Amino acid sequence: MAAPEFSQEQLDEIYAFAVDLGRKAGQLLLESVEKRLDGGSQTIEEKDSAVDIVTQTDEDVEAFIKSSIHDRYPAHKFLGEESYAKGQSREYLIDEQPTWCIDPLDGTVNFTHIFPMFCVSIGFIVKHRPVIGVIYAPFQDQLFSSCVNRGAWLNEKRRLPLIHKPSIPPMPPTAPGKCILSCEWGKDRRDIPDGNMYRKIESFLNLAAETGSRGGKGGMVHGVRSLGSATLDLAYTAMGSFDIWWEGGCWEWDVAAGIAILLEAGGLVTTANPPENPETDPIEEYKLGSRLYLGISRPAGPSETETGRQSQERTVREVWKRVRQLDFSRPGA
Ligand code: IPD
Repeated sequence: MAAPEFSQEQLDEIYAFAVDLGRKAGQLLLESVEKRLDGGSQTIEEKDSAVDIVTQTDEDVEAFIKSSIHDRYPAHKFLGEESYAKGQSREYLIDEQPTWCIDPLDGTVNFTHIFPMFCVSIGFIVKHRPVIGVIYAPFQDQLFSSCVNRGAWLNEKRRLPLIHKPSIPPMPPTAPGKCILSCEWGKDRRDIPDGNMYRKIESFLNLAAETGSRGGKGGMVHGVRSLGSATLDLAYTAMGSFDIWWEGGCWEWDVAAGIAILLEAGGLVTTANPPENPETDPIEEYKLGSRLYLGISRPAGPSETETGRQSQERTVREVWKRVRQLDFSRPGA
């Protein structure tokens, strides 16, 4: 099934529009960097804290995307990071209506430092389900995209995950060992004993430490990576370059497009927070507004002993055994 109330043909048309929009918006991001390289200045405003920032470029690109969508699809709802941030409510606003959920500039801190990991993120959601995703990172000229039933793609010609011939590799039998873990420090820097920041760090430590250490929690992952953009973390997980993404604290516009792309590539998305019995409790589907999306496995193929899905689920449980619960509750989610 494509998505309730939209035919595949309609979705294909919306997809083509979203890809074109992503490229144009990414070009605006690049032009803004080029102006700076030519000596132009940059205005940075702080939102909730000194690490939660917005530039004029975020605002301009969001305005461009919003008006383009409004002109083409006036009946669709729009939710963008910057217009949302201006309201004081932290409520989850996505409902049953077809909704565009966008971040004009994910990785704003990277952008201000000209660290190339920044992008525009455009997700189209039908009945709470991201069905189309477009992510464009203009500095690297990487466009990630997907539409339900049409596959996930890099630059519209390389199918994701990148390695799928002769088949998609299964998750390593020792996972999280031999996996690359992607995670972010995030913006909650409150120095509260056993607060979110401490719990994240303890979880990173467990996953990174040598096997058998830390009371059996040492996961000995191959590597730990933080791109500084939740959106690009997801895109790299869909590529298969990252195996596990574990994250708490980001918002629906940071992940809507990336979740669409990862799912279409064959990944698994659930919640970051381990249930009471990580070994046996059901692996629930992620909730878009939860801010605790993740524990994500990359696309995985079968081995002699497991299906791809079984190897993803095994990995989720192994991650859950090693991570702490995070608290990012909010109204309406
Ligand atoms: C942020 C980035 C970051 C993640 C934060 C996000 P922004 O988005 O995705 O990696 O850790 O939670 O808010 O502010 O750069 O658009």
